[in-house]
Amino acid sequence: MVLAPNVYDAEPIPEAARAEIDRLLASGDLFRYTAAADAPVALLEAEFAEALGVKYALAVASASAALFLSLKALGLPRDARVLIPAFTFAAVPSSIVHADCVPVLAEVGKNFRLDMTDFEAKLAGVDAVMISHMRGHTSDMDRIMELCEARGIPVVEDAAHSLGTLWHGRNIGTLGKIGVFSFQSYKMINGGEGGILITDDAELVARAVIMSGAYEHNWKKHKGPHGQNAPELAEAFARWQNKLPLYNTRMSNLSAAVIRPQIPELERRVTDGLVNHDYLAARLNQSPWIDVPPPLAPETRAPDSIQFNLSAMSDDEVHAFMAVARDRGVGVQVFGMSEDNARAFWNWQFLPEAPGALPRTRTMLARACDVRLPVRLKRPELDFIADVLIGAADDVKGAALAYGT
Ligand SMILES: Cc1ncc(COP(=O)(O)O)c(C=O)c1O
Repeated sequence: MVLAPNVYDAEPIPEAARAEIDRLLASGDLFRYTAAADAPVALLEAEFAEALGVKYALAVASASAALFLSLKALGLPRDARVLIPAFTFAAVPSSIVHADCVPVLAEVGKNFRLDMTDFEAKLAGVDAVMISHMRGHTSDMDRIMELCEARGIPVVEDAAHSLGTLWHGRNIGTLGKIGVFSFQSYKMINGGEGGILITDDAELVARAVIMSGAYEHNWKKHKGPHGQNAPELAEAFARWQNKLPLYNTRMSNLSAAVIRPQIPELERRVTDGLVNHDYLAARLNQSPWIDVPPPLAPETRAPDSIQFNLSAMSDDEVHAFMAVARDRGVGVQVFGMSEDNARAFWNWQFLPEAPGALPRTRTMLARACDVRLPVRLKRPELDFIADVLIGAADDVKGAALAYGT
């Protein structure tokens, strides 16, 4: 008999991390700028940039910090307007508020991706775009880049959940001016906490590096591609010396020691995660009450969770579905129905400007379900989850039919 799978724990951290952590504990060398060169955080940045095929990477305390630094690096003035999808995590509009800018929300459809008509309509008067590839679902990046490039609007990709996702075979996070990834524990690479910003733009990375807390001349420990000195980077650092505030949101060497040995695991994790997701999606799509939307054609996904819509259910039935699934061992959250959900835009009461009604996003959130799917799950565990979800929907709808409601 298969027990209800634990969908919260990640994989064990590779053994290689242990020796490096012991070395750091023995020397006390935990601060990224103590060593003259090759600190674990600097090595992580070089390895990550290489893996993603970009010139520069900056590792920081969280993806939220990286998003905030991205906006500061772009030099957006106070009250600049930043367009985001209305379906994202509260930390995303928070990073915009933190940067003294104003989040503007665009509608998201039932496929969990930006509604391009609303996106285009709201672009007028916008100073930057921050695309959350929410839960790893990629919106139409061809159209987004085309629209933004035509208007000279910079695009930041919030790829917190998208490490390993491809768009026309290119890494997500490399399409906009800046890409941001998260190493928080529920992501493909688990550092407990942590984030990383990538870009090919020396000016942007120099500004972000200084503001992340490279005080005095610590920026000299940041290198260009392949760990080499890069003249354009040195010139950009010299231009910004002493001219920017220090927000001190650096990554510790301990986090880098945990993260680095997971980079070689990424390809396997992405492959396993996609196979698991697509197996479960195919099973769930056999239910008349459940719909897992397909990816867009140019997209190769790297999922670490699954999202699906409930069809033909009333609010009471949705609550009953969540309760039955939970009682049978599978936790499901319906983004718009669980109390105080941080991904429901009406709970972002800190927004400086009312986001508007956003009826399409609201309708989607009222039926969109979220189940974690760590890549380590095996077929019997996936079948357990599928059986519970399909059975819960059947029972709720069967009961509804039986009582004629
Ligand atoms: C879409 C999205 N963006 C940004 C973040 C923030 O990531 P972090 O926890 O590393 O700050 C999250 C966190 O889950 C997220 O889901």
